Amino acid sequence: EKGNYKHFMEKEMHEQPEVIQHTLAHYVDFASGKIRFKEKLPFDFADLNRIAMSACGTAYYAGVVAKYWFEKLARIPVEIDVASEFRYREMPMEKGGLALFISQSGETADTLACLRYCRAQGQHIASIVNVTESTIARESDAIFPTLAGPEIGVASTKAFTCQLSVLLALAIMAGRARGTITEQEEQSYTQALSELPKFIRQALKGSDDIAALAHDLSKVKHVLYLGRGTNFPLAMEGALKLKEISYIHAEGYAAGELKHGPIALIDETMPVVVIAPDDPSYEKTVSNMQEVAARDGKIILITDQSGADKNALEDCQTIVMPTVPDIIAPIVFALPVQLLAYHTANLMGTDVDQPRNLAKSVTVE
Ligand code: M6R
Repeated sequence: EKGNYKHFMEKEMHEQPEVIQHTLAHYVDFASGKIRFKEKLPFDFADLNRIAMSACGTAYYAGVVAKYWFEKLARIPVEIDVASEFRYREMPMEKGGLALFISQSGETADTLACLRYCRAQGQHIASIVNVTESTIARESDAIFPTLAGPEIGVASTKAFTCQLSVLLALAIMAGRARGTITEQEEQSYTQALSELPKFIRQALKGSDDIAALAHDLSKVKHVLYLGRGTNFPLAMEGALKLKEISYIHAEGYAAGELKHGPIALIDETMPVVVIAPDDPSYEKTVSNMQEVAARDGKIILITDQSGADKNALEDCQTIVMPTVPDIIAPIVFALPVQLLAYHTANLMGTDVDQPRNLAKSVTVE
């Protein structure tokens, strides 16, 4: 039931504060500020030389964000690939490694094929799934559930932010197991996690302002999304969301790649959405924005208050997000990206919940 919402996607975006809270309660003991997962893991993070991840679509982008987290917090190298490539890559794998799969439905054919490949390679199999009765869950040694509840909209929203929440909790857990973060750091990260529902609620309050920006976006043919670090996978996710439901052509790029090709596309007809909280990479992204502005590109900047204050570009529309700890920024900044795609598609009158040509779960290759 959609209740007072026009679409399931809208309802599911608004459920995010609750479902993230619910999911986190499974992984974090907020009283002690420690990660705790009730079940015993069939592998030890301390023994791993590498994690191989694989997933499709939005779940893949969650994995790309997590690569940055695992490498930073737990110093474990992470290999990640889309499942349709991974399954045929014949990746060499040392026995006893960890293979981690991310899937809302738990039924995606390519992801399942990767799981079976990794099983044959003697890997520990873990999966982050929303449907715990699914095939991927059944074939895993360890299941890390997202407690997002049923996701009906074809465009994944609440499953994505719950996947990110679980992945961050796991990266913290891995960091502690490997001694690469201290107990104090664990506490400050779990403190940040505990504030997520509040920040997500604040982000949702920006919905009407974002709807106003969507008017311009609904009239264009192409959009470029840029971001650095964990904002790079968010840029790709933003582009995917927009193309899925509005059918506007969109591309997500690492901001540093702008000069290596996509800058040739910039003119006044192709807006550039820049995802850039005021983190250590902000200044570099600002110089990319200047390059866009110098070519008459229209910018929509998604940033926080201090990022907005530092930005001197005149012709730039800004979405101001709450100021949040860097580590959780990708989860909070997923919201404006979802909302922008949603409002654009809504204005265009597309079938938001059942976009053309798409299925909720891709069970054939
Ligand atoms: O069920 P899964 O998470 O395995 O599905 C993966 C992708 O098919 C899915 O994320 C797809 O890209 C969504 N439509 C994105 O909004």
